[in-house]
Amino acid sequence: MQFFLDTGNVEEIKQALEWGILDGVTTNPTLIAKTGRPFMEVAKEILQLVDGPVSLETVSKDAEGMVKEGKFLAELGDNVVVKIPMTPEGMKAVQILESEGIPTNVTLVFSPAQALIAAKAGASFVSPFIGRLDDASSDGMKIIREIKQIFDNYDITDTQIIVASVRHPMHVVEAALIGADICTMPFEVMKKLFYHPLTDKGIELFIKDWEKVPGRPF
Ligand code: E4P
Repeated sequence: MQFFLDTGNVEEIKQALEWGILDGVTTNPTLIAKTGRPFMEVAKEILQLVDGPVSLETVSKDAEGMVKEGKFLAELGDNVVVKIPMTPEGMKAVQILESEGIPTNVTLVFSPAQALIAAKAGASFVSPFIGRLDDASSDGMKIIREIKQIFDNYDITDTQIIVASVRHPMHVVEAALIGADICTMPFEVMKKLFYHPLTDKGIELFIKDWEKVPGRPF
């Protein structure tokens, strides 16, 4: 499973790249606003750092506006993926952008039906938001299982599933068990994936015991 960071924070991206585990980035207007930095500056820096797909979001409500914004965003780099909301107008825009070779990521997906529509419209990626479903007393991961099952049933391989709105490490593990293509996660969740108390305890013990070894080269 590929790991994407869901962030507009360049420092977080640099750190994940140093770890060698970053396959791509997703952003949204909220994440960019949180940085307090000019959009173009942030987008260009992210695109310079990351080789994999970088999702940048449109904000128009009509297809014409989405296509216009999508084309503008696509000019910023070869790895730009245009994020389009799951609406009828959005699906019109997806078809147009994809037919012109611009990859799209259908966002704000909350049901298997919406994911199937995104695939039929030709989106390269679909982003079901599991955390927001959990927050609404629903089972977010259930729709990932259902979308995966539907895509497998019809051999849909041109649309990759990005598990989004991830809240904790078990979301990542469950997404991998289901076989989702990608999980996009906040930096805090990515950091937590590394940790286990037994690892820390084991390191301390080995360092302590190493002190007892005669003739240590280091
Ligand atoms: C996905 O692409 C979105 O940016 C994101 O996962 C939304 O997550 P949130 O529910 O934490 O805002």
